[in-house]
Amino acid sequence: MKVAVLGYGTVGSGVVEVLMTNQESIEKKAGERLEVKYILDLRDFDESPFKDKFVKDINVILEDEEVKVVAEALGGVEPAYTFVKGALLKGKSVVTSNKELVATHGPELLEVAKNNQCNFLFEASVGGGIPIIRPLNNALTADEIYEITGILNGTTNFILTKMKTEGRSFEDVLKEAQELGYAERNPEADVEGHDACRKIAILASLALGEHVDYKEIFTNGITQIQKEDMDYATSLGYSVKLLGSCKRTDDGIYASVQPTMIPQNHPLANVEDVFNAVLVKGNMVGDVMFYGRGAGKLPTASAVVADIIDAAKHKQTNIMCFWSREKVALEPYEGCKA
Ligand code: HSE
Repeated sequence: MKVAVLGYGTVGSGVVEVLMTNQESIEKKAGERLEVKYILDLRDFDESPFKDKFVKDINVILEDEEVKVVAEALGGVEPAYTFVKGALLKGKSVVTSNKELVATHGPELLEVAKNNQCNFLFEASVGGGIPIIRPLNNALTADEIYEITGILNGTTNFILTKMKTEGRSFEDVLKEAQELGYAERNPEADVEGHDACRKIAILASLALGEHVDYKEIFTNGITQIQKEDMDYATSLGYSVKLLGSCKRTDDGIYASVQPTMIPQNHPLANVEDVFNAVLVKGNMVGDVMFYGRGAGKLPTASAVVADIIDAAKHKQTNIMCFWSREKVALEPYEGCKA
């Protein structure tokens, strides 16, 4: 089966690497050989061993009937949205790591996929390499999920960890996170909490089956946090973490992203460096926690490729969950409750 990769940055190049490195085992699992036929990128990669695969025109991919799956790793809403919708309308499955795209257009793109007998899959859009979308779409569907709380941004968790344990400055650690390929192209999305906001909106939407609009989620990042704040929290027996939360109560649905002091014995307190973790509470299953590398080339690419394999195994069968286009009303954020 032929695959096209959109974008040859950190994630896109990782997708090609995972497909090449694990080619044999992937072939067994997918039931056929998966081959990258095209890589879309406007830059020139004359020295690349894959230089013959590069194209600059999306129509080459859209018009090629051999291409059955498109892996989108461009980031941002446009042109990703136009390209992804164009591929789905042609009956090509799309897999993506693009949380901005999913949070903004997820319900519509799922519907387009369903109407065109293909799949729109986005495991890598939340939690990097951690499986979290599939469990919400599959293993946990018997439950009513009433709370999701997570450390959903690797860059900010990396920064908070290094500031605390190595006494380094915010700027210094952010630079390292960028060099390691954890941070967004515009790291403001990480440090101001927007990235985590989109991710909790996606998780909440899947868990609730309704559209939680990320623009309505109260969001506060970590730029105001000083080393002294963390030392103070430590002396009181707490960790400071950027938490994305969504909770359904009798009074309504609440969602927020904010730096939070959590007691050392809480399961999220010792999630460090680039690791993410998501604690899901269901009315039947109780507490379930997912933990792993939340950012970085290969962990994220691993989740993208798992989606490619799933798309190969489920041609013409839509496997993704229900996610209504109806927006759910959120209760206003009322500040920190002790
Ligand atoms: N910038 C994101 C993070 C990448 O740091 O978590 C993964 O979505």
